[in-house]
Amino acid sequence: MRLCVKYVIKKYYMKTKKILCVSASLREIIYTLLILFLLTGNAFPQASGIIPEPQKVEYNNEWFVLSGMTIIKTNSPESDIAANILNDYLYLLIGKRLSVNNGSDYFAINEIVISEIENDGEPSEEYSLGINGKSIVLKGSADGLIHGIYSLIQLIPVDDKNKKIRGMEITDYPKFGYRGMHLDVCRHFFTKDEVKRYIDFLALYKMNYFHWHLTEDQGWRIEIKKYPKLTEIGAYRNGTLIGHAGKKPKEYDDLRYGGFYTQEDIKEIVAYANERKITVIPEIEMPGHSLAALASYPEFSCTGGPFEVEREWGVFEDVYCTKEETFKFLEDVLSEVAELFPSPYIHIGGDECPKARWKNCPACQQRIKDEGLKDENELQSYFITRIEKFLNSKGKTIIGWDEILEGGLAPNAVVMSWRGTEGGIEAAKMNHYVIMTPVSYCYFDYYQGNKETEPLAIGGFTPVEKVYAFDPVPDILNDEEKKFILGAQANLWTEYIPGFSHVEYMIFPRICALSEVVWSYPSERNFENFKSRLINHFKLLDVLKINYCKEVLK
Ligand code: ACM
Ligand code: ZN
Repeated sequence: MRLCVKYVIKKYYMKTKKILCVSASLREIIYTLLILFLLTGNAFPQASGIIPEPQKVEYNNEWFVLSGMTIIKTNSPESDIAANILNDYLYLLIGKRLSVNNGSDYFAINEIVISEIENDGEPSEEYSLGINGKSIVLKGSADGLIHGIYSLIQLIPVDDKNKKIRGMEITDYPKFGYRGMHLDVCRHFFTKDEVKRYIDFLALYKMNYFHWHLTEDQGWRIEIKKYPKLTEIGAYRNGTLIGHAGKKPKEYDDLRYGGFYTQEDIKEIVAYANERKITVIPEIEMPGHSLAALASYPEFSCTGGPFEVEREWGVFEDVYCTKEETFKFLEDVLSEVAELFPSPYIHIGGDECPKARWKNCPACQQRIKDEGLKDENELQSYFITRIEKFLNSKGKTIIGWDEILEGGLAPNAVVMSWRGTEGGIEAAKMNHYVIMTPVSYCYFDYYQGNKETEPLAIGGFTPVEKVYAFDPVPDILNDEEKKFILGAQANLWTEYIPGFSHVEYMIFPRICALSEVVWSYPSERNFENFKSRLINHFKLLDVLKINYCKEVLK
């Protein structure tokens, strides 16, 4: 007897429909594949269902049945934090938080064991996750446990009342030590709870650095006790540009717009991120992109002002003057910032600083003479190097955009390469650490679909497939130089992103692709495979009520 299986492969797996007719001798194989397909919901049954895909997964034939009776066992405060995060998601996924027993060694027949392992060497992000018919056992250092708990969260079926988790042994660790996401809260402001939700997204995909862009021409967003006008004046603008910056004539909405984070808010966000093993890197922009600060304290400019907090987008000529009083101001600001953020890094900007004001300023020209500098590029280098020295004295390393290479790189600076990978290559060849965030792969404010139907964006075109193809380590570097590439980051500038749901739309699903670039980074990346896993993963995004771009479904 012949068996004919009419099996329509959905259009997003293959562009054309296929009909498979197979003989009875293949029946079992086909049945097995079909069952696996139905269980995992994707055409690549070897995939775990976790994004980013773990380094190593071995399956067994058992199933763990998760229920409201399942017990969680922990052995340390860090494992309690992991249990708490799991419970937050279980509440959404099964409508119940599970009871947690810390230190108890009684045996439960259906248990999740979260076990912190003392780490006696280098800090490790590795974890192991073993799942069988009786238990789920997660082991790792504090960081590893958090990564492992998010893997487990992603393994819980979302579209089935039966919460059966397939048996497997996972061993997992990251490819890169720096896995970052940036958020501009200046062009548009996002509340403390929205920033926490953004941090939740980072944690879900094992990203470990949150680059928080806190100061700009259009708004100063961090309370500084010594300079209250920064937030009284600098946190608010009298209107916002309507439409694209390229549109003429320019129109403004004339509505007062702004907001800022108190130091208490910042401590709360840093602690929240810390629980999820995410380091928050504050960015305090200098010498350019500083109009909100200069509107508050015009005495730190070259001309004395007056200035307004900017209402439109772009690069503006008024920047910090290099006179002594400005450095005193910036050192006071950075002292408060260094206290608030435990991060070993502080980002000092350094990008897009026009030199016109410095050229015509007696104080800046005197500085060039006194310091024996060649020109305004070297003056910018003097500026950054001086700030670096100050921050190094506070135990902090600076990160700057790749313009800090111009006029001479500060001795210990990390370079964030955004205008391409060339700045990063140059820095790595000079034995400086580098974070890759080239605009054409890592700017999530670019369009990700058809411009005619997508919401207004700054320009460009970076679909999820392009993000997935990104290689943070340029081939041109030799093996020694490659070691200076710490990892990669995506940036979300928010000129055209007025609300948080729109933030979600711009980062999803591109953050999923980036997470595999920086965590899993298989040498052979297969976009079709990723795409089918991503489409399956959309069910979780739906449950989490995340607004995401559905371009890959077209
Ligand atoms: C940048 O996008 N100006 C760093
Ligand atoms: Zn000046």
